[in-house]
Amino acid sequence: LAYDERGEGLPVVLLHAFPLNRAMWSEQVEALSHKYRFITPDLRGFGESSVMPSATMEEMARDIASLLDDLGIERAVIGGLSMGGYVTLAFYRQFPQRVRALILADTRAQADSEEARLNRERMAERALREGAAAIAEEMIPKLIAPQTIAERPEISERLRSMVVRNDPQGIAAAQRGMAARRDQSDLLAQIRVPTLIIVGREDQLTPPELSATMHREIDGSTLVVLDGVGHLSNVERPEEFNRALDQFLSGL
Ligand code: MLT
Repeated sequence: LAYDERGEGLPVVLLHAFPLNRAMWSEQVEALSHKYRFITPDLRGFGESSVMPSATMEEMARDIASLLDDLGIERAVIGGLSMGGYVTLAFYRQFPQRVRALILADTRAQADSEEARLNRERMAERALREGAAAIAEEMIPKLIAPQTIAERPEISERLRSMVVRNDPQGIAAAQRGMAARRDQSDLLAQIRVPTLIIVGREDQLTPPELSATMHREIDGSTLVVLDGVGHLSNVERPEEFNRALDQFLSGL
């Protein structure tokens, strides 16, 4: 498992979205590593981490637990965006005692509909047949708000360069892992740690209503909705995302 570690203090693990890599957190690490110890892994099959034939959310969560073992960290803040959020919930279910606090960004607790599962299988096969560039073409317009696409072409380019470096086998395994993921809705009411929920108001993939549901179910959670932002809230509006993150972490 490839990862970066930067800063000192409270350990904060941030898990990236599909089909990106740990570089998507660079603005958070850059801005806040003078206050917190950030650990940003590439999930299995992405970036510089090994490709595995299977990539369930539970397996990815166990990878993170092993990484924390290696680093000698018993408890950490665990956070993730979208797929990273699915892994975060799977981590909490398996290792609640290792979680100091949760960050759930642009994600959902529900499992996939049958239609979404079929679409994932189609995309897995497309990745294997046509390569990662085809997945970049398909995904990037869904990841960021139309205004971001129109006005900030450098963001699309940055995302593209992350996607195309991924192995198609890793992309396919993660799509199948996400299709197989369990519904975590029943877990929400059992969460007993401080939880920050962040979402972009224009998120098409995990719309704000899904975050509002998590906020209702997770006792004492904080919900932050960022205007003019799509699915990749931390990349599209780093300053606002960082403000919410810092406010949350500094209060722990
Ligand atoms: C992500 O951003 O991680 C993915 O779009 C999540 C998903 O496909 O459900």
